[in-house]
Amino acid sequence: MKIQVIVGSTRPARATIGVARWVAEQVRLQAPESQVELVDLADYPMPFFNEPVSPQFNPSRQPEPVVKAWLDKVSQADAYVVVTPEYNRSFPGVLKNALDFLDFQFAEKPVALVAHGSTGGAHAVVHLRSALAGVQAVTMPAATYILGMGGNLFAQDGTPKADVQGIASALARNVQSLVRFAAALNRG
Ligand SMILES: Cc1cc2nc3c(=O)[nH]c(=O)nc-3n(C[C@H](O)[C@H](O)[C@H](O)COP(=O)(O)O)c2cc1C
Repeated sequence: MKIQVIVGSTRPARATIGVARWVAEQVRLQAPESQVELVDLADYPMPFFNEPVSPQFNPSRQPEPVVKAWLDKVSQADAYVVVTPEYNRSFPGVLKNALDFLDFQFAEKPVALVAHGSTGGAHAVVHLRSALAGVQAVTMPAATYILGMGGNLFAQDGTPKADVQGIASALARNVQSLVRFAAALNRG
């Protein structure tokens, strides 16, 4: 099974890259038979959504190269872990924009959610569940909430800077759920 860990923020010195690198390592531990890949939205600098027809209703769409690269990349996965910070009680606009470009790349595929922020990312998770339903993805019933700034807990390379055992346990349950849902959905 191919699992992509998506980095949900792109600003310079973002904390989410460190959180996501650590998450990817945890996914490798929990799903050792899977191929785990980090997919960084910063590598896909897309314009604001600009297509004249809604992607799910446009079978002949011709996305520009950077958008096509994003669509081709996420097409490869059977399951996803989205790592997102909370911005103003939601998830970042850059992540929403990337989701708006999808047509059916995520359809009927399972997605685990990992959020962080000064209030734990709960609002980001609620809003992401709703947006991911729009692209027909299946979000895991539980999510992993990391209370506090991710940058205080993880270095940019993903090395924990504090005791993260409790987060690792919650994340393990989330990833196990993702693997079970992927099997149930005949993904991988
Ligand atoms: C514009 C902005 C808005 C934010 N709003 C919230 C918020 O509503 N709730 C929260 O818990 N944290 C909020 N935060 C804190 C971020 O979740 C936290 O700084 C996180 O580490 C940012 O991730 P990033 O460094 O990958 O961008 C906000 C941060 C920024 C930059």
